[in-house]
Amino acid sequence: MTLSRGEFTLSWDPAAQQPERIHAYLTQSYWAEGIPLALVRKSMEHSLCFGVFANGEQIGFARVVTDRATYAWLADVYVLEAYRGRGLASWLLEAVLAHPELQGLRRFALATRDAHKLYERFGFTPLTKPESGMEIRRPGLYKKP
Ligand SMILES: CC(C)(COP(=O)(O)OP(=O)(O)OC[C@H]1O[C@@H](n2cnc3c(N)ncnc32)[C@H](O)[C@@H]1OP(=O)(O)O)[C@@H](O)C(=O)NCCC(=O)NCCS
Repeated sequence: MTLSRGEFTLSWDPAAQQPERIHAYLTQSYWAEGIPLALVRKSMEHSLCFGVFANGEQIGFARVVTDRATYAWLADVYVLEAYRGRGLASWLLEAVLAHPELQGLRRFALATRDAHKLYERFGFTPLTKPESGMEIRRPGLYKKP
């Protein structure tokens, strides 16, 4: 459940994840601005969570919402600014895609504003049939009025 690379470790042990630090990032992210800590915790409890750590502090995260059989949704991917450009998000994606519970899925999906290049390297493509997708979307749900 733990890998190391130089000064960094990567873990998908639920007990290793640091919800307060994850919340501190997500609550100011463009996709989950204002999300309460309790919701971050609950979302983590029902997902597979992957973290990157430096000196015992969580500096990167990825969360996979999945039935572990047919479908997965990749969410909440980030690396703290000071640690970007060193391949850590790529390392997280390698670990996600190698996870034994995430093999043979019929669909692995995600949404991104501008990190398409990162995901393309791991086989993600634009939606093949965007006209067949539907959603209920509530942007800004957690923002205070
Ligand atoms: C996107 C993010 C996770 C990348 O983390 P990282 O550890 O710097 O990524 P890596 O070092 O593994 O490499 C990323 C590669 O993807 C590319 N990339 C594509 N879109 C990118 C983006 N929006 N930001 C950073 N890199 C991006 C980089 O150019 C880099 O390619 P290179 O090696 O040829 O330079 C990080 O920039 C981040 O946390 N951004 C803010 C949160 C965010 O947008 N998350 C994605 C939500 S879908």
